[in-house]
Order: sequence, then C-alpha cells, then structure tokens
Amino acid sequence: MTSTKDRERTELQTAQFNLSSYLAERKALVEAALDRSLPVAYPEKIYEAMRYSLLAGGKRLRPILCLATCELAGGTIDAAMPTACALEAIHTMSLIHDDLPAMDNDDYRRGKLTNHKVYGEDIAILAGDGLLARAFECVALETQGVPADRVLQVIVRLGGAVGAAGLVGGQVVDLESEGKPDISLETLNFIHTHKTGALLEACVVCGAILAGAGTAELQKLSRYAQNIGLAFQIIDDILDVTATQEELGKTAGKDLQAQKATFPSIWGLEESKAQAKKLVDDAKAELAAFKEAAIPLSALADFITNRTH
Ligand code: FPP
Ligand code: MG
Repeated sequence: MTSTKDRERTELQTAQFNLSSYLAERKALVEAALDRSLPVAYPEKIYEAMRYSLLAGGKRLRPILCLATCELAGGTIDAAMPTACALEAIHTMSLIHDDLPAMDNDDYRRGKLTNHKVYGEDIAILAGDGLLARAFECVALETQGVPADRVLQVIVRLGGAVGAAGLVGGQVVDLESEGKPDISLETLNFIHTHKTGALLEACVVCGAILAGAGTAELQKLSRYAQNIGLAFQIIDDILDVTATQEELGKTAGKDLQAQKATFPSIWGLEESKAQAKKLVDDAKAELAAFKEAAIPLSALADFITNRTH
C-alpha cells in the first residue's frame, strides 16, 4: 500500500524533476555511444551511409526509454547502453527502408534528405541491412556485467519485435491498407501496435530484463509501453494534420494525401486527443508500484502527448 506520506514525497519529487535536462543529458550519452558503436572501415561508403542516418539526430526516445527502465529496475546505464544503441539502429533501419521508393517514397527525414536520395537505393537497402545486423551483434558482443541468460532474453525480445510478429508485420498491413481510408479501427490498431508499439515495448522491457526485473514488473512495464506506444501513434496522426513540415522535419499532411486511415480520420481530432490522454493516464497508472523510481518514465509519457513534433 502506498501511504499518504509516500504519495506526497513522490509528488514533490515529480514537481522537482526536470525532464528537459534529463532528456538532454541522456541524449548526449546516447549520441556519443552511437558514434562509438559504428566506426568507419572499408568499404567506407556503406559505413558512411549507415552513419548518415544513425547520427542524424532525432529525439532518441527509444534508447532513452531503455536506459530509464534499466535504471528503474536497479540496473546501470552502462549495462543497457549496447541494447539502447541496438534499438536506435533498428529504428533507423526501419525508417531507411520505409522511406524507399518501394514503400513510402519519401525525400526528407529528420530534416535531411533520406538515405536513398543521398546514397542511392542499392546502398540504402544495404545500409538498413547492415544496421539491423550490427544491432544484434552490438547486444551480444558489447553488453557487459549482465548474466548471459538476460542478454539472450533481450535478443529474443528484439527478434520478436522486429520480425513478422512485430515491425515487419505491421508494415505489411500498413502497405496493404494504403488508399483504403475505410479500414477498421481493429486493423488500424494492429498496424500501430506492431509497426511502432512492438519496438517501443521492446525498449522498455529489454532495459528491465537487463536489470533482472521479475515477471510482474515486466508485465506492468509492458502495459505501460503498449499504452504509450498507441498514444504516440495517435499524436503522430494528429501532428500530421496540425503541424508544419518545419516542425516535423518531414513532409506534413502526408496521411490525407495518401488517403490513409488515421485515428483523426476515424475519431476526429478532439476524440483522438482524448483517447491519447486516456492511454497516457493508463500508462502512468501502471507505474504506481515503482513510486519515485518511475518519475522519468511518467514524465516521458506526458512528454509524448505534449510534443509538437
Ligand atoms: C514509419 O511509419 C515506419 C516504421 C515505424 C516502420 C517501418 C517498418 C519497416 C520498413 C520494416 C523494416 C524492416 C525490418 C527488418 C525491421 P510511417 O511511414 O507511418 O511514418 P513516417 O511518416 O515517419 O514515415
Ligand atoms: Mg513513412
């Protein structure tokens, strides 16, 4: 049971928590680790293409979530950093491939030309493949001070999140749904729980696995992640309607143009905002048992719904 005193202490610490400096500090650590994780070698061209997208900035939310849950469950930043880098490498590769002419055919990503626009389609495909392979190598080779069975569990989770049961499956249904603005809410949910939700869940769960969290803790964190994953996507859909290209760093208004079913197209903008808020509240409720150790995760959940890009 949480006493009134406990609750008051958590509320005070929450009020004092500075999310922007937390994010800036973690982002700097992640940027440095990503840079170290992929030194240039022969053939330079492919390493440059991989580094071009991997080091193109971005919020680094996925690695930050992984580091945060590892710390929440009693682990260290160092223990989770190779997995955090792997998650960002997987996310980056999925975007490189998503932007290809065979899929979304996009010219800009994170405010820069897309990988294939700079290096050509052949190298962009290979850069994605190289990043995916490097991600798994990084976890297996560079995780230190963590029992091998936990590292193995992380590799299993990552494989599940990336493959046909995760990201790849979500992308397939997304591609099939293009030009069909009348797809059901169920299909839309499938797309997002797989295309974005699965990897976000892996970020949260893998950090906690590395720290040795138990099943009950992993389940709570997994539900937290599923809720913020869906909220994240609803906000993405809302921003596609309301934000500018400068704010997004990528083309705005694409969903409408591609006649894509989105949460705002099914629910309208106001209801979409309300649903996102409810998901964030549910996500935060899952954190109650972790008390003040969960303050960063709780603040991150709010950050996701309040973001403008
Ligand atoms: C962006 O969605 C795309 C994704 C989140 C993932 C796409 C997944 C793949 C291309 C599969 C990759 C292959 C492996 C092996 C993981 P969006 O197009 O809705 O968002 P955007 O506006 O940012 O492009
Ligand atoms: Mg896309």
